[in-house]
Amino acid sequence: MSDKNLREIAQTLDLMNPPEGFVDSPFPFYDALLEYAPVLRQPDGSVLVSRHADLDAIYRDTTLYSSDKQAMFGPKFGVGSPLFEHHTTSLVFSDPPLHTRVRKIMTSALTPRAIARMEPGLIETVDALLDDMAGRGQVDLIADFASTIPIQIIGNLLDIPMDERGPLRDWSLSILGALEPALTDAQLQQGHGAVRDFKSYLRDLVARRRAHPGDADTDVLTRLIRGEGVDEQLGETELLQNCIFILNAGHETTTNLIGNGLALLNDHPDQRQRLLDDDRLISSAVEEVLRFRSPNQFGNRLTTAEVELGGLRIARGTNLHLCIGAANRDPAVFANPNCFDITRKPNRHLAFAGGPHVCVGLTLARLEGRVALGRFLKRFPDYRIRQPRCRGGRIRFRGYAALPSIL
Ligand code: HEM
Repeated sequence: MSDKNLREIAQTLDLMNPPEGFVDSPFPFYDALLEYAPVLRQPDGSVLVSRHADLDAIYRDTTLYSSDKQAMFGPKFGVGSPLFEHHTTSLVFSDPPLHTRVRKIMTSALTPRAIARMEPGLIETVDALLDDMAGRGQVDLIADFASTIPIQIIGNLLDIPMDERGPLRDWSLSILGALEPALTDAQLQQGHGAVRDFKSYLRDLVARRRAHPGDADTDVLTRLIRGEGVDEQLGETELLQNCIFILNAGHETTTNLIGNGLALLNDHPDQRQRLLDDDRLISSAVEEVLRFRSPNQFGNRLTTAEVELGGLRIARGTNLHLCIGAANRDPAVFANPNCFDITRKPNRHLAFAGGPHVCVGLTLARLEGRVALGRFLKRFPDYRIRQPRCRGGRIRFRGYAALPSIL
């Protein structure tokens, strides 16, 4: 493609109507955005921001850039609807002081100690899945491996009984799917139904846990119910909606980290061999998967005052789409950004965002990535992913719906 074409593609890119090929592979489009239109006005008035430095600054500043989505989700979901209540009560879409209070309770529940204690259970879960796959030869790496691990781990975190975990994945996909820029009525109704069912399930679980509290050192739900003293407790709706949020936040994202990692190691045999030769590279390999194919490709913020970005004056109340996927390939920060290099250091990617809203579960997600990818590769060093792969088909969350493979 000529430079003229690339410039035109970048300057006319509309996230609500992405150009052909964008959903399948947005990365060439990101390169064009970084080069020709790093701050781009969208037809609906919102603004698409792609540079690493801009995202980094925006994430750090909760005064100029708000996470509160009441104004945006009212028209999108209907004020008072189940999706509206969920997405406006969860901490990710709130500002201080509500955010500070909920985050404090959440981080005090997800302690490094609680996470470290999960490692033996995680290894057991991963090894059981590997044993099961070994008996079959042909598998789907998403259904049989990547999606099962986080649902079990988050299930363990809240100590959800094993036989009650079945519906969690579909609820989670429907609720997060409702955040896509363009939605069908069926997707919307599915999302509302999922919040209703999830909330009613959790109300019952919380009542049981109040009656029989778990070990507060390891049971995050018991910690969330208890809060931080009398003054720092979550109200009932806050508690239920933030439990739903933890389950959702840790599910599809981590599935995609593992699935994307397996696909990348399949497609880059030299990097797979390096990891097989030296398993101490597993931590930097996980970081590179997070950078190169970030599970969350986009974040959002709302301007609270007029700002200027990349020479563009942006009015108060403008929705910003923060393109994490592009920022993570910004040549101003990463040498050879389109090269997948599992030894890359430093690797200042923004896959977990940054600033006061930086991902609460990043230590757990990294642990899951290391254990899942490391142990899989040791057990099945010659695995091959077959065509056709089935993509998740979303632009905000990037991953695969199915990865048929031979072990
Ligand atoms: C690879 C896996 C994961 C990725 C890529 C990821 C990514 C992110 C990102 C980008 C944000 C910031 C959103 C924003 O402010 O715009 C975030 C927030 C959050 N994540 Fe994660 N996440 C992952 C796994 C997890 C896990 C396992 C958990 C829970 C155990 C979790 C819990 C949270 C919570 C509670 C927040 C909200 C933090 C706040 O608003 O203060 N995440 N995550």
